[in-house]
Amino acid sequence: MSKFRTIWTTEDRFVEVIDQRKLPHEWVVVKLETYEDAELAIKEMTVRGAPLIGATAAYGIYLAVREMIEEELDPSFVDEAFSALRASRPTAVNLFWALDKMQKALDESTDFLTTAWDMAGQIVEEDIETCRMIGVHGLPIIEEISNRKKGETVNILTHCNAGMLGCIEWGTITSPIYQAVQKGIKVHVWVDETRPRNQGSNLTCYELTRHGVDHTLIVDNTGGHLMQHGQVDMVIVGTDRTTRSGDVANKIGTYLKALAAKDNQVPFYVALPSTTLDMTIRDGLTEIPIEERNQDEVRYSTGKAQSTGKIESVLICPETTKAANYGFDVTPARLVSKLITERGICDASEEGILELFPEYR
Ligand code: MRU
Repeated sequence: MSKFRTIWTTEDRFVEVIDQRKLPHEWVVVKLETYEDAELAIKEMTVRGAPLIGATAAYGIYLAVREMIEEELDPSFVDEAFSALRASRPTAVNLFWALDKMQKALDESTDFLTTAWDMAGQIVEEDIETCRMIGVHGLPIIEEISNRKKGETVNILTHCNAGMLGCIEWGTITSPIYQAVQKGIKVHVWVDETRPRNQGSNLTCYELTRHGVDHTLIVDNTGGHLMQHGQVDMVIVGTDRTTRSGDVANKIGTYLKALAAKDNQVPFYVALPSTTLDMTIRDGLTEIPIEERNQDEVRYSTGKAQSTGKIESVLICPETTKAANYGFDVTPARLVSKLITERGICDASEEGILELFPEYR
């Protein structure tokens, strides 16, 4: 597997992340020294992807505790950090899960700094193992298709980036893919570019390239056509929040892929770390808050200019055209073939989820 993580600590006990806004063209490392740095990194999508947002927020709390102690600030400073980080992005529930875990650990502790440092580290390590296990459980699905096709290439379509860049290592959807490739199974990935921020073309293509996985970039509207022509054996996507009944919020456009998959009898899988479960809600359509981002993300497109070799943004509509920028949509459970979790595979239903996670009964 890859030799890097997406978040790590430094010798002076600060935190570093990769500036994902610059990939695939530039590898820029950003140091987070305050909770405001962590908050901004999440808001501006220097880091993104549900598990990585959670881990960054956890370290944000550690940084706030550190500053409180070093600068002899009032404990309300840490409360402010919790509020600010909670408000940094609304949809991915891992953010709130990680902050709740940090809060509980601090509430039960007297040595705040050690507790915050250890708990943030634990969140990171747990995510790595969770993703690895999603791969262990997802691998047989790819293997079965490969066997059925007598060793011919398995064509997998994905949307956005639910790879290691959205997590710490392995990724959720990429873990079964990387494990299949390691096992010598022939895999090819169709990568949706995922407008407007192009997590597919910028990030998924980047990490598949780094891992030597055969892939082809497609514009977001191509998947249905490919499915109609038997070019997709399975779809696998990530999730930012999955409800008790198995409704899945993921990057905008996921729902349309699920509809096309259903119409073409292509299995549609969701790679689901349990940290992304929101067992407090049932109806994804009405109960999951959908992020709306700045319209300029749609009005402009960013990439490396052919003429200058520099990263540039270009306007792609008339100056006065307004844009709507919904970050996520909800795929109803009935369109999801199976959920692939760290504990195994289950139906996208309350019963299915509870079988694997009985602690939520
Ligand atoms: O807006 P982003 O890039 O944070 O959205 C990320 C996604 O939608 C991913 O598919 C999801 O978080 C899963 S990451 C393992």
